[in-house]
Amino acid sequence: PKIALLSVPFGLGAGNPGSELAPRHLLHLGLLQSLQRLGCHIDEQKDIGAGIQIPPIQLPMKHSAEVIATGTALAGEVYTAVSAGQFPFVLGGDHSLAMGTLAGLSAYYPRLGVIWIDAHADMNTESTSPSGNMHGIPLAVAQGRAQLSLSHLWPGAGIVSPANIVLIGARDLDPAEEVLIHSAGIACFGIADIRKLGIDTVIAEAIRLAGANTDGIHLSFDIDSVDPTEAPGTGTPVQGGLTSEEARNALRQLGLSARLTSAEFVEVNPLLDRADQTAKLAVELIEVLLSNLRN
Ligand code: ARG
Ligand code: MN
Ligand code: MN
Ligand code: MN
Repeated sequence: PKIALLSVPFGLGAGNPGSELAPRHLLHLGLLQSLQRLGCHIDEQKDIGAGIQIPPIQLPMKHSAEVIATGTALAGEVYTAVSAGQFPFVLGGDHSLAMGTLAGLSAYYPRLGVIWIDAHADMNTESTSPSGNMHGIPLAVAQGRAQLSLSHLWPGAGIVSPANIVLIGARDLDPAEEVLIHSAGIACFGIADIRKLGIDTVIAEAIRLAGANTDGIHLSFDIDSVDPTEAPGTGTPVQGGLTSEEARNALRQLGLSARLTSAEFVEVNPLLDRADQTAKLAVELIEVLLSNLRN
C-alpha cells in the first residue's frame, strides 16, 4: 500500500517526559532508509503538531487540553490519508494519540476492529484513572464509555464496538478495567494464553475476532507489551511480557493480513532507554510490520 507516515512528537499523555522524542530518534536511527531498502512505499511523511485550542470539554486529567488539540490534528490527517487510499502509520508519542487515530479512522470506517497489543488495557475513564494520565483512557473513550468521546476530537467520529476489540499481552489491569473487560466480554489474550497457544494462533484468532463484520482492523502497538529486559525504554514497564521474537512474529502476521487498515506504534521513551536497545528494537519491529503489508 501507499503508506502515510504520520510522526507525532507528543508525550504529555504519559506520566513522564520523553516519548515525544521517539519519532525523531527512530528516524535518526535510519527508519526511513531501511524502509525504503525493504521496498516500502512511503507516500508521504508528515509531522503532526497542534497549537493550543479551547478544548470542547473540560476534564479532570493531566494535560487534557493538549491531548485533545493534538488528537484533533491527528484525526484530520488520518481521515485525509484513509480517504486518499493510504495506509496511515502513526509514530508516537504516547498512547493518548490513539484517540486521534481512532477518531479519524472511525469517521471513515463505521465498523472498525481494533487489535491492542499492550501490557495495559488503557480502558480507564476519567473517574477510574489512578494516575490522571490521558494515555490510560483511549480504549474507554473509543467505546463511548468516558466523558470524552471520539466525536469531541473529530466530528463524524463513531465508536468502536467491544465485540471487535482484542487485547494482547495485557498483564497490568486496574480493577475498573478488569470489570469492564469482563462485563463487556472483550477478548483478552494474556501472556499465559500466548505461551499456551503460541503467538501465531493468538494473532490468527485476534484477526478473526476483530475482523468479524468490520470494515477493517486497526493495530495499536504499545512497546511496553514487550518484556522490559528487551524493551526497557518506556514509561510504564511491566515484567513478564512478550519476547521480541513473539512481537516480531505478531507484527509479521498482522502485516500479512489483508484486513489491516492502519497502525500506530507508541510509548518508546528514548530518555529511559539503555543504549538505544528499545529504539533499535522499535525500528526493527516497524520494519517487519510495514515491509510485510500487502494490498
Ligand atoms: N493503567 C494505568 C493508568 O491508567 C497505566 C496506563 C499505562 N498506559 C500506557 N499507554 N502506557 O494510568
Ligand atoms: Mn498503552
Ligand atoms: Mn502500556
Ligand atoms: Mn480477568
